[in-house]
Amino acid sequence: PRYVALIPAAGVGARMRADGPKQYLPIAGKPMLRHTVEAFLSSDRIAHTYVVVSADDPLIDSVVPSGGVTVLRCGGATRMESILNGLQALRDTLRDDDHVLVHDAARPGLTAGLIERLIDAVGDDPAGGLLALKVVDTVKLRGAEGSVSTVPRDGLWLAQTPQMFRYRLLRDALAGARDPAAVTDDASAVEAMGFAPKLVEGHPRNLKVTLPDDIRIAEMYLAATDP
Ligand code: CTP
Ligand code: MG
Repeated sequence: PRYVALIPAAGVGARMRADGPKQYLPIAGKPMLRHTVEAFLSSDRIAHTYVVVSADDPLIDSVVPSGGVTVLRCGGATRMESILNGLQALRDTLRDDDHVLVHDAARPGLTAGLIERLIDAVGDDPAGGLLALKVVDTVKLRGAEGSVSTVPRDGLWLAQTPQMFRYRLLRDALAGARDPAAVTDDASAVEAMGFAPKLVEGHPRNLKVTLPDDIRIAEMYLAATDP
């Protein structure tokens, strides 16, 4: 079985409040999405990289390198829909047991080292796995009635991407999700099928660029040495 990357890049970046979609904003001299794609191109474990964009995306062809990358113009209204549409489009291309690494376009700090860490840690585990960060802060829960309590952080992780699953399992999990609004990442749909995906230590440099200030943080990490 092969390892392939699937990068959802069909969002509008509303929270970034920029002129266009955030995946095309320059970071350290290159469009964000090019950094993201290059992380996969720099890993010799990844057989191919697929990028999902919206049907009317005018910029993608100027951003992705020609070799090793295929653009799928089938983005949907939500992240989950974009990924599911991409998986459906690859129905005749991928085999059921191929490993798909789903990775946000908006995480340009990914490195070949982190990709390899995930692949090596998950191994043949049928439940797949994802990069994640152990929670280091103290976590508070404000209840509906105004109560405030402290949630023990033991065992709490923050999900990152890539999230890696066998093609067939991921497609079935997303297609069968009973409450699509509750599927905020790929792993949650797989968990709902009774699997326990492996949590693999990620890195803060793999942050999701969401708010305007995140650009500067991402630039700082992109200038630093790979983990
Ligand atoms: N994404 C997608 N299709 C959508 C929505 C999101 O492919 N309909 C992608 C984004 O391009 C991004 C990733 O999913 O790479 C993570 O989503 P997010 O950070 O929320 O990006 P946006 O949805 O673009 O930003 P916002 O929520 O602020 O509008
Ligand atoms: Mg979004």
